This record gives sequence, structure tokens and C-alpha cells, in this order.
Amino acid sequence: MTNVESLLPFNPGHCFIDGCWQPSDSTDSIVLHNPSNAQALCKIAAGNSVDIDNAVNAATAALNSEWGRFSALERGRVLARLGQLVTENIELLTTLETADVGKPLTQARADALALARYLEFYAGAADKIHGETLPYLDGYTVYTLRQPHGVTGHIIPWNYPMQIIGRSVGAALTMGNACVLKPAENACLTALLFAELADRAGLPKGALNVVPGLGDVAGAALAAHAGVQHLSFTGSVDVGAFIQTQAASNVVPVTLELGGKSPQLVFNDADLQEALPFLVNAGIQNAGQTCSASSRILVQRGVYEQVLELMADAYKNLKVGPADQDFAIGPLISAAQKARVESFIKMDTELTLVAQGTIVTDAPAEGYYIAPRLYACEDPQHALAQQEIFGPIQVVIPFDDEAHALAIANGTEFGLVASVWTQDGSRQMRLAKNLHAGQVFINNYGAGGGVELPFGGVGKSGHGREKGFEALYGFSTLKTVAARHG
Ligand code: NAI
Ligand code: MG
Repeated sequence: MTNVESLLPFNPGHCFIDGCWQPSDSTDSIVLHNPSNAQALCKIAAGNSVDIDNAVNAATAALNSEWGRFSALERGRVLARLGQLVTENIELLTTLETADVGKPLTQARADALALARYLEFYAGAADKIHGETLPYLDGYTVYTLRQPHGVTGHIIPWNYPMQIIGRSVGAALTMGNACVLKPAENACLTALLFAELADRAGLPKGALNVVPGLGDVAGAALAAHAGVQHLSFTGSVDVGAFIQTQAASNVVPVTLELGGKSPQLVFNDADLQEALPFLVNAGIQNAGQTCSASSRILVQRGVYEQVLELMADAYKNLKVGPADQDFAIGPLISAAQKARVESFIKMDTELTLVAQGTIVTDAPAEGYYIAPRLYACEDPQHALAQQEIFGPIQVVIPFDDEAHALAIANGTEFGLVASVWTQDGSRQMRLAKNLHAGQVFINNYGAGGGVELPFGGVGKSGHGREKGFEALYGFSTLKTVAARHG
């Protein structure tokens, strides 16, 4: 097993505040575990409200010094250098994420590449976001300015640390905000390495501060801090709702990305061979621990049995094992997450288990492995068809016609992503319009995760948009300037 501590070019027990590594005010620490074998990896700081306060103060100071004076062009350049450094460190980032999160190597590498791609995209966009001139009364010139909110707080989860850093911190820095990042307590290493790389890229001190720690300590302190002007959060609905109350107390905007129960709608005329890998992969990628996982497959009755059969064959070939052996599925993040998924499996009595994948025999018994499960489900109201499980479990639900499919698809409290598999162009357009989701895919799922494509939810999947140019509008505020010159 890799000794990760020896690979780290920084002390993992420290916080990154005001451009340097410093010990936490707290004497507590958190032990990171390798989900593949439950062995301890290293200790990280259990940051507290004093660390958060220091980080917010450093960010505030950065806005009034070098970072605040950076032009859009200079911000773009530093992000481009950071993207380059991420690319040069892709293997280290991959190794760390595989050990820390239990991501199979291929998925960890894809995340590192996505982080680089976000930085490249935002580097190029930095000097292309501009205001407008507005026709107004004679004697006036009116224009708008896009300006940073100020200090932005980023509370991120463990399932895609690198991608979420790219889309949230990347976009916030592009617009000139100064960031305080609180990574998840069970997945911190790539966030810490990102801080080190940002420093090497020449990001001025205080522009990015990283304070690891527990959600209800460091996270709560960041969410409540009166010096923060924007909060972005990705994670569970309950914590998201709490973050929003904190944002409300300080009257600051908040972006919430809270997961979903995203459906794929497969019609009788769909190209099933084309669809099959998307139907399965969207459910089992990252062991199902994906906000936009497709956990519901809705299939028209004419091809229902056929889709079940095709998916069952694919499931029977799915292997689960240690992340560094790069099977299709690795372990879940933690014993708690495994227990959560098992509690859903216990509720499966009214469903038909159609197929299961296999945990490889040499997978350590202490690892947090769950074999993927495919269920046939006649009842769209069943708990497994309604609640976010966040594990490698999919339900396949039959429907009669388009109206029925739409009612089932829209019949959860979530609305993040949906996809439609049909050759009928009119149906594609109708469903794209009527599905409750922030993204709709036609004859694909996820569009390869394109960093260019605005992403976010409706309903309990949250609000606000990340990714693409849209994120840059969210991470900035608009000022209207009206000059009366006669
Ligand atoms: P969580 O929502 O508790 O954790 C996400 C982040 O929020 C972490 O950084 C955590 O430290 C922080 N946090 C927790 N409590 C906080 C508080 N009181 N104040 C401020 N920050 C706080 O999610 P958890 O417990 O790891 O996973 C539980 C379930 O949440 C999963 O099974 C899944 O259904 C959902 N989830 C969804 C994600 C998504 O991508 N949308 C990501 C992670 C979890
Ligand atoms: Mg939690």
C-alpha cells in the first residue's frame, strides 16, 4: 500500500491560510482512511472557528492587496499556470485520490484531468466576461460592471473533490473573489495539494485558503461567518438547507448542489445497444456516489424485458475491488456510507433483484465494498425509486407512454439531470422542455461531463448554476453605472 504521507509536498496536518501552511488552532486531528482496506492514511487538521476566522481575514485582506489589483488578464494567466501544474501532477493527484476516496485509478485520473480542464476553460474566460452599455436618456451614459462578491466560502463533499474544486473555486477565482475552501473530512488530500499548486502557480497570498475540518465545526463556522459574501455547497439536502439558513442570516447568495434521483427514459424506438453503456455506467460510476448518478431507468413496456436482460448481462460482468486495481467499481467512501446503502438494500422486499455484480475475492474484508444491484421496480413510489441512495444501485421502472414516463420522471422531489432515448425528434423536444431537471441529455447521458455546460438543479436538487460561463455570472455581482454628462 502506498505510503501517501511521503508523497505529500506539504504537512497534511496543517491548514493553508494567507499563502502559507500553518498549524490549526485546534489540537484535534482527523485520521483519513483508505476506503479500499480501511487502513489509516494520515492525519489532517480538524480546523475550528479560529482557523476559519483567520482564513476569512486573509481572504478579505487579499481583496485589498495584490490579488484585488490583478487584472482579468492576470487572473486568467495564473489560472492557466495552475491548470498546467495540475496537468504536470496528474499522477500524484490520481494516486492521492485513489487512496483517499477509493476511486478506481481511471476515474481518479479523469477527475484530475477535469480539474485541469476547468482551469483551462476559466483561464480563457477570465478576460471575456464583460458588462454592457445600456441605451438611456439623452445626456447619460450607462454601463454595467461585473465585480466579485468578495470572500466566497466553498463547502465541498468527498465524492468528486477535484471536479468540484475546479467548478467552484476555479470560477470564483476567475471573477476575482478570494476563496475559503472547507473540504470534506473524509477526503482532503487533493484539496490540500491544490492549495500547494496554486501557491506555486503564483496565486497571491490569501486568494485561496483551505481549512480542513468537520462539517459541524469548520463547515458550520464558515457558513455562519459574517465576513463571507457568497456560499457554495455541494452535499446532502439537510446540510444544504442548513447552509441556506446561515446564508439568509447574513443575507448573502448561496449556490446549492444537492444531488438527485436522475432518470433515463428509454422509449420503444431507442437504439438499445447505443444506450446500454450509458444506462449502466451512469448508475455505477464512482460506485453510484455521484450527484448526477442515474439511479432510475424508466423503460417503455415494449422493450422493458429486453432492457432488463441487457442491463442484467452487463451487471453480471461488473467487478468491485480495490481502487488501485482499477475495477469498474471501487469501495464506498466510508463505513457510514456502506451502512447507509445497506439500509436501503434491506428495504428491497417488494422489488425483484434482477442481477448483481461481484466483489473480487481478494478485496480486503475491511474495505467498504458493495456489489452493484439492479432491481426491477413496478412502483415508482418505492423508497428505492424515490430517495437518493448514493451507492451502486439502479431501479428499472416500466412505463406505458410519454405522459406516463414524464409523470414518473418528474415524480420525485429532485431535479438534477435527465436523459431521453428515442429517435422521435418531436418527443425529444417536448421532453427536453417538460422534464424537471437542470440538464437534459438526448440520446446520451452526461455529455462527457463537459466543463462548458451549466450544471445545477431544480427542486431539492438545489439552485444556482456551476460550470460554463453561467458560473461566472453566479460568482459575480452586477453593478449599474449611470453617468450624467449633459
Ligand atoms: P454532507 O452534506 O454531510 O457533507 C458534505 C459537506 O458538508 C462536507 O464537507 C461536510 O463536512 C459538510 N458539512 C456537514 N455538516 C455540515 C454543517 N452542519 N455545516 C457546514 N458544513 C457541513 O454529506 P455526507 O454526510 O457526507 O453524505 C450523506 C449523503 O448526502 C450521501 O449519502 C448523499 O446522499 C448526499 N451527498 C450528496 C452529494 C452530492 O454530490 N450532491 C455529495 C455528498 C453527499
Ligand atoms: Mg453528513
